[in-house]
Amino acid sequence: MAAERRIFGDAAAASVRAAAERVIVALDVPTAEEADALLARLDGAVRHVKVGMPLFCAAGPTYVAALKERGLAVFLDLKGHDIPNTVQRALERLTRLGVDMVTVHAAGGRAMLEAARDGVERALAPGQRRPLLLAVTVLTSIDARTLNEELGVAGGVEEAVLRYALLACDAGCDGVVASAREVPAVKAACGPTFVAVTPGIRPAGAARGDQARTVTPADAIQRGADYLVVGRPVTESPDPRAAFVQVVAEVAEALVNREGMKAAQGDERADGGESQDRASRRHARSNGA
Ligand code: C5P
Repeated sequence: MAAERRIFGDAAAASVRAAAERVIVALDVPTAEEADALLARLDGAVRHVKVGMPLFCAAGPTYVAALKERGLAVFLDLKGHDIPNTVQRALERLTRLGVDMVTVHAAGGRAMLEAARDGVERALAPGQRRPLLLAVTVLTSIDARTLNEELGVAGGVEEAVLRYALLACDAGCDGVVASAREVPAVKAACGPTFVAVTPGIRPAGAARGDQARTVTPADAIQRGADYLVVGRPVTESPDPRAAFVQVVAEVAEALVNREGMKAAQGDERADGGESQDRASRRHARSNGA
């Protein structure tokens, strides 16, 4: 909080705080020491981190617990994809770590997604907030050619993302990981409360690296993304804190614009029937109805 006030002044601190909650920094480094060094350079500005396979393979559950003890929200992105029984057991273990978000591949199919959901539900301790169960749709590093020619999936990327999103929604997942490019279609089909977490974020002028479907931070928010995952544009910047602060400022401004637009449109139309129904059915199921 002090850091935000130092950087932005009191007036903007609240909207910057709200924006910072939505920007997840991917700690894609190979050791706990390097993750600690990166967090030190971010100097308390970051609130939400993503631990993926590289760091989890090196530092494991102990390091995840240490991040939680520091008060950080943790997105544990291990992208489970296995037979339902194995995924269910893995998700039970991950839920017991007290993380805030977990991922499985939608391509694992309905039975696997439902098993993941069961694993999460079974492991919840009394009073524990349920981690968001997110289904990875089509990786943001995959383009139409790869999808069609290498993976043998016909049709466009958005079509595939939408198919996976509908499956995930019906199987009881809380949301998806997808490019922000596909978020408007996902929200229209699955409802506004179905969470969209979007990697492939590149501030204007940043290197794309291996990402194929990139979007700027402001564009991602305008398209309806709930959370943005940012890795290399922050972690490989000569000044990670300045890079993070720049992304958060862009998100804060875009959020103000988005909320303004929503308010203007709000009274003009009711939310869509089919998508609302789908979200309601999902929530009824998650409440045990
Ligand atoms: O460095 P960059 O910003 O490209 O990092 C994006 C992060 O988001 C990586 O940790 C990557 O594993 C993850 N991710 C992704 N595409 C998905 C799901 C996760 O890039 N569909």
